[in-house]
Amino acid sequence: MVALNPILRRSLSLALAFLLPVTASSASSHQPSSDPALTFVNNLLARMTLEEKIGQMSQLSFKDSAKTGLDGDVRKGAIGSFLFITDPVQINRLQHIAVDESRLHIPLIFGFDVIHGYRTIYPIPLAVAASWDPSVAEAGQSMAAREASAAGINWTFAPMVDIARDARWGRIMEGAGEDPFLGARMAEAQVRGFQGPALGSPNHILACVKHFAGYGAAEGGRDYDQSNISDEQLYNVYLPPFHAAQQAGAGSFMSAYMDLNGVPATGNALLLHDILRTQWHFNGFVVSDWEAVKSLTNHGFAADPQDAAIRAVNAGLDMEMTSTTYRDNLPGALKQAKVNIAAIDTAARNILLTKYRMGLFTHPYAASTEPESAVELKAQHEATHKAALQTAVLLRNEGRVLPLQHSIRNLAVVGPLADSRPDTMGSWSLAGNLADVITVAQGLRNKLGEAAVHYTPGVEILRNGFSIFDGLFPEPKPTLNNDADRGNEFRHAIELIKSSDAAILVLGEANNMSGERASRSSLSLPGNQQQLLEAAVATGKPIVLVLLNGRPLDITWASTHVPSILEVWYPGSEGGNAVADLLFGDANPGGKLPLTWPRSAGQEPFYYSRNLTQNQEDDATRYWDLENTPLYPFGFGLSYASFQFGPLTLDSSSISRTGTLHASVELQNTSSVAGDEVVQLYTHQRAGSASRPIRELKGFTKVHLAAGEKRVISVPLRAADLAFWSPQTHASSVEPGTFDLWIGNSSNAPTHTTFNVTP
Ligand code: NOJ
Repeated sequence: MVALNPILRRSLSLALAFLLPVTASSASSHQPSSDPALTFVNNLLARMTLEEKIGQMSQLSFKDSAKTGLDGDVRKGAIGSFLFITDPVQINRLQHIAVDESRLHIPLIFGFDVIHGYRTIYPIPLAVAASWDPSVAEAGQSMAAREASAAGINWTFAPMVDIARDARWGRIMEGAGEDPFLGARMAEAQVRGFQGPALGSPNHILACVKHFAGYGAAEGGRDYDQSNISDEQLYNVYLPPFHAAQQAGAGSFMSAYMDLNGVPATGNALLLHDILRTQWHFNGFVVSDWEAVKSLTNHGFAADPQDAAIRAVNAGLDMEMTSTTYRDNLPGALKQAKVNIAAIDTAARNILLTKYRMGLFTHPYAASTEPESAVELKAQHEATHKAALQTAVLLRNEGRVLPLQHSIRNLAVVGPLADSRPDTMGSWSLAGNLADVITVAQGLRNKLGEAAVHYTPGVEILRNGFSIFDGLFPEPKPTLNNDADRGNEFRHAIELIKSSDAAILVLGEANNMSGERASRSSLSLPGNQQQLLEAAVATGKPIVLVLLNGRPLDITWASTHVPSILEVWYPGSEGGNAVADLLFGDANPGGKLPLTWPRSAGQEPFYYSRNLTQNQEDDATRYWDLENTPLYPFGFGLSYASFQFGPLTLDSSSISRTGTLHASVELQNTSSVAGDEVVQLYTHQRAGSASRPIRELKGFTKVHLAAGEKRVISVPLRAADLAFWSPQTHASSVEPGTFDLWIGNSSNAPTHTTFNVTP
C-alpha cells in the first residue's frame, strides 16, 4: 500500500467520513449478533420515533430540583440524560416519569462530575498520580462510585486523562501529569474503580474518559485554546492514556472543547470515528463537552447550528451536552436529506446499548435516598486519609526539621489556606461535604491539642476574575479590608511565629485558582505569600512549608531558604489529619512527582521526556538567564527513610519484539524507619526511524521496606511498551536495536545498562 503523508491521509479520512456517514451496520460490526444487548436495543430502535431517538442523544442540565418544566419532555422521551442533579429524590422522580410514563419506558442516565470523591473528597487526581500506585487511584474512584451511586448518579465525567506538560494550564490538577506511561496506568485504574469488574456492577458507575483528545496541549497553557499536536506526539504521548482507559472497558468518552490541529474535537472524525471506533473498536458512546456541539459555529467550522449538528453526528458524536443543537436541527436536516438516518440510529444505539449493559433497564433507581450510614462514612474517611498520606511529596528536608517532635507545645500555623475547608478539598469537589473536611490547622489541633496550636492567616489570597465554581462554598474567607488591616495581620503572624517553637506555613493557591478556566501566566505564590514566607524565615525559627496547590509553583527561593517543604496538593476531606501525621512522623511521605517541577513559568511547557538535539547535553546553552534544568525532576520525592540502590542486572541482554525482560536491583532501606520507595525504569532507543526521547518511563514498582530491610526488586519491561508511532512509517511498531536502561528513584536515575531488541 502506498504510504500517504499524514495530512493527506487525515484529509482523506475526514472527507470519506463526511461522504459516507457512519452506517448502522458498520457501527454494530463489533457486536456479535447473539449479543442479547444488541438484540434488545435493535428491537427497541425499530419502535422508536425520530424524536425519541434524538431524545436519547440529548443531555440537559437540571440544576434546580424545584423546576418541573422538563417533566413533559421526559414523558415524551425527548430527553435521554440529565447532568448536575444530586438530589436522589429528584432523580427518582424523573426516572419514574421516564420509566413508568414514557411510551417506551427507556430510563434516563444521570451524569455528574465525580472527579475525586463525591461527598467524601479524595486528594485531587494529580496528587493521586503522585502516589505512583494505581491501587490508590482505583480505591478512590471505587469509593466515589459507591457514594455517587447511592445518590442515584449513574455516570461520572471522569477520569480526565489529558496529558499536561504546561503547569500554567489550570486543569493540570485533574489529570495524572506529564507522562503517558504513568498516565495510562492511572487511567485504567480509575476506570476499574468507577465501573468495577464490568459495566453494571452494583455500587459502581459509568466512567467517561475525557477530553478526547489533546486538550492538555492548549497553546500557552490557556484553557480552551487550540492544540497543535504533531501526529508523532498525538499517538505517542496524548493518546496512550485514552487507549488504556478504553481497553480497561470505559463505557463512554467525552469530546474535547478545542480545535485539534485545526479541526474541533467535537466534529473530528479522525478522533471520534477513525481512531476511537475503527482502530480501537470502542463500543460505548461519546458525549460532547458542555455546549461543544453548538460551539462548532464559534470555531469558524460549522456554518450554522444545523451544520454543527450534522458535522458532529457524522463525525461520531453520539450525545450532546446541554445545548439543543441536535434536538432543534436534526429532524430538519433529515427531512432535507442532509443527514442519514443511519447516523442517528448509530448514535442512539450506542447510548441505548450502554444503558442496557449498565443494567439501567432493570435497575433504574437510586439505591438509597438515605444519608450514608456512619459505618460507611468511617470507612470512606479512612480510605481518603490513607490516600492523602500516600500522595504527599517531601520536596526538601534540610537538617531534618521534619518530622517534628510530638512534645512541641507551641506551634504557629500560618497561611491563608491553613484553616480553609474549600481549599483543603480543592477544585471539582462539587458535592463535597464541607462540614466533614479537616483543615491542616484542625489536623494539627487534633494531633497536639487546641492549646498547642496557634493559627492566623497572615495574608489573604484574592483571585480576580471569574471562576465557574464561585459561590459554591459559602464559607467566609478572611477579609482584610484595608492596608492597615493587612499590615496588622502580617505583623501579628510574624509575632506569632517569633513566640512559637516552630511554624508551619500553609501556602499555595486558593482552590478556584486551579481547575477549569483557571490558567495562570505566572507560577508565583499568589498574593503576599512570598513576602510572608521570607519574613517567617527571617525570624530564625524552624519553618516548614506545606503547599496546597493544583500545579507546581515557583518555589525557587524556598528551595534554598526553607528547610522543609511538603507538597500535599489539595489533600481532601481528611487532608489535615494526614498532613499532621506526616509532619510528626506518624506516617512517612513516599509520593513522587508526576511532573517536572520547573524553576520558572518561562520554561513551560517543560517535561523530562524530550528529544535531544544539537548541543543539548549542555543545559546552560538553552536560556542565557536560567539553567534549563527542573527544580525537581519528574519522579522525585524524599522520605524520612533513606534508600540505597545496589547493582542492576537484567535477566537477558536481549529480547524479541514480543518478549518481556526483567530488570532487578537490590534496594536497601538504610535508615531506622520504615518507608516507601518507587523503583522507576526508564529506557532510551539509541537510533531508529525517528528521534526518540532522551528517557521514557517504561515500568515502576512501589515498595514498602521496613527499617534496615534489603530486598531485590524486579521490574518487568515488556518489549510491546517500546513500540512507538513513527512519522516515517506512519505505523506503530517496536524497532530492533540498542536501548539504554536506567533504574532509580527519579527520571535522573543514574544506574545504567543496555539491552538489545532483536529483529
Ligand atoms: C466542562 C468541563 O470541561 C468538563 O470536564 C465537565 O465534565 C463538564 N463541563 C460538565 O461539568
